[in-house]
Amino acid sequence: MQNQVVLVTGAAGGIGSSIAEGFVKAGAAVALLDRPSEALTELETRLRGLGAQVLALPADITNAEEVSKAVNTTVAQFGTIDTLINSVGLLRQGRVDAMLEADWDEIMAVNVKGVFLACKYTVPIMKKAASGSIVNLSSVSAFVGSDGSFAYSASKGAVLSLTYGIAQELAPFGIRVNAICPGWVDAGFTHQAMKVASDPNMLLEQAKNAHVLGRMAAPSEIADAALFLSSKAASFITGTALNVDGGFMIKR
Ligand SMILES: NC(=O)c1ccc[n+]([C@@H]2O[C@H](COP(=O)([O-])OP(=O)(O)OC[C@H]3O[C@@H](n4cnc5c(N)ncnc54)[C@H](O)[C@@H]3O)[C@@H](O)[C@H]2O)c1
Repeated sequence: MQNQVVLVTGAAGGIGSSIAEGFVKAGAAVALLDRPSEALTELETRLRGLGAQVLALPADITNAEEVSKAVNTTVAQFGTIDTLINSVGLLRQGRVDAMLEADWDEIMAVNVKGVFLACKYTVPIMKKAASGSIVNLSSVSAFVGSDGSFAYSASKGAVLSLTYGIAQELAPFGIRVNAICPGWVDAGFTHQAMKVASDPNMLLEQAKNAHVLGRMAAPSEIADAALFLSSKAASFITGTALNVDGGFMIKR
C-alpha cells in the first residue's frame, strides 16, 4: 500500500478506525471521513503519531455537498484516491409495525445513500487513473433475518446489490468493487448493543456461539480482509461478497 491513498468512511467507528490503522501500517496515506467528533480528531492524532499522512474530513455522509467537498479535499491534499472503503453505517432496531418512519429514513440515508454518494464522487477520480478498488461493508444480516433488525438487514442487502451493480459498470475502467460481510465484530455496533442489553453477558455468549469459530471477530480481522481486497493479491476479484464471519453462515 506504499504511496496508495485510501479514503475510509465511518473512519472513527470501531471497524473503520481499525481499517484506517491497517492501511497506515501498510504504508498508505489515509483520509478519514466521519461526523465531526472527538473520536475523529483523536484518531487523526494517533495515526499521525505512527508517522502516517493523515487527513480528517468531518462530514455528514448523507449530504452530497459535504461528501463532494471531502473527496475534493482529499485529492487536493494527496493527489488522488486509489481505494475507497465504506465502513459508514448506522444500526436502528425496531419491529416493522413499531419502527418510526424517521428511523427507517435515517438508516437508508446513512447505509445506502451514504455509500452511493461516496462512490459517486470518488469514481471519477478512479476513472481518471484507470484503476481503483472500492470495498463496502455489508453484513451477514444481508442474508439472515433477525427479530427487530429488518431495516438494517434491508440496508445491508442494498449495499450488496449496489456493489454488484457498480462492479459491472466499473470493470471496464479497471476499478474493482467488492463487499465484506462480517458476522459479529468485537467493536462498534456490538459494543453499542451490549451497553443497552438487559443481559449483556447473555448477548455476549449468543454473539460468540453464533460463529463456528466460537468467538467474535476482532476489528483487525475485518481490516485484514479490506486490505486483501484492495491489494494486488486480489487483482482478479470483483463483484464478490466476502464473508468474514467465523463460519456464521454455515451454521444456518
Ligand atoms: N460491529 C459489527 O458487529 C458489524 C457486523 C457486520 C457489519 N458491520 C458493518 O461495519 C460497519 C462499521 O460498523 P461499526 O461496528 O464499526 O460501527 P460504528 O458505529 O463504530 O461505526 C460507524 C461509523 O459511521 C459513522 N457515521 C454514522 N452516520 C454518519 C453520517 N451521517 N455521516 C458520517 N459518518 C457517519 C459513525 O459516526 C461511526 O463512526 C457498518 O457499515 C456496519 O454495518 C458491523
